[in-house]
Amino acid sequence: MSYSPSSPIKRHSPRVTVIGAGKVGSTLAQRIAEKNLADVVLLDIVEGMPRGLALDLMEARGIELHNRQITGTTNYADTFGSNVVVITAGFPRKPGMTRDDLLLTNAKIVVEAAKKAMTYSPDAIYIVVTNPLDVMTYLVWQAIGLPRVDLEGRHVARRRIMGMAGVLDSARFETFISMELGVCPLDVKAMVLGSHGDLMVPLPRYATVNGIPITELLDAATIERLVQRTRNGGAEIVELMQTGGAFYTPASSTCVMVESILLNQSRLLPIAAYLQGEYGLNDIFIGVPCRLGYSGIEEVVELKLTDAERDALHTSAQEVRKNIDRAQEVFAAVSR
Ligand code: LAC
Repeated sequence: MSYSPSSPIKRHSPRVTVIGAGKVGSTLAQRIAEKNLADVVLLDIVEGMPRGLALDLMEARGIELHNRQITGTTNYADTFGSNVVVITAGFPRKPGMTRDDLLLTNAKIVVEAAKKAMTYSPDAIYIVVTNPLDVMTYLVWQAIGLPRVDLEGRHVARRRIMGMAGVLDSARFETFISMELGVCPLDVKAMVLGSHGDLMVPLPRYATVNGIPITELLDAATIERLVQRTRNGGAEIVELMQTGGAFYTPASSTCVMVESILLNQSRLLPIAAYLQGEYGLNDIFIGVPCRLGYSGIEEVVELKLTDAERDALHTSAQEVRKNIDRAQEVFAAVSR
């Protein structure tokens, strides 16, 4: 049989669209392709830029030993039929800003992006990364218009729409624990719940080094210092960089979620999920432990929390709620 370039090898590959080709988006595209997880469509509103990034990533394929297609585009039609859509579009923080300061500008960008993406990928799982994360995830749900539950009572919004932040915040907490104890980061596991903001809820009781609770290894004052550093983790990097913020770990953390979905790993991860009564919270997206597999969030796991932990989670939810309310005007304006 002779080789015919006009009949290329056909293979089915999952497809992930990454909206926003900034540092987080482009690094995520690289991670997904180089881990050989899926073809990637990298979309941005700036002409040429996503195509340039995609071509650059394509040219590394022989060296990085994978054969995934990376497409750069400004056209949503190219995102057609994606399995997963990740929204990173929006402005990052400047020094001195909180994530909430980005609310109104990013709300418009995210709502428009979600609507367009949904037209071409109505069955996709949506992961929101743009800040303020928990509020943006709620707006994406509103924009996409998925029902809370289907006719059989299955959770639709919860399964298919989620925000990435807990994996990042937990990775930071784990890093600070491993640095403090001088142990390998692979041995440290931690969960950070709540919103991706100053009121996030790191859970030292559930943090371990190869199964040993950190409360056995560190005194209370040290743990509190690591908790505070975790809460301030994003801002610490913004202050150091001055322009832009963290992107390597945000991209890696999002990739963990994409991988758990595409490979149906059912990992138990902290994810901003839609709650309907769990943890005493209703009609809100906020970080809680979830099992994440091929169909999206399969389960929200309800941990037993102490009164203080529960209060902290509720305080963080009140802040998210306030900002959801603030963003409704933007949502209505964009939707008109
Ligand atoms: C951070 C930004 C991505 O925490 O929220 O670094």
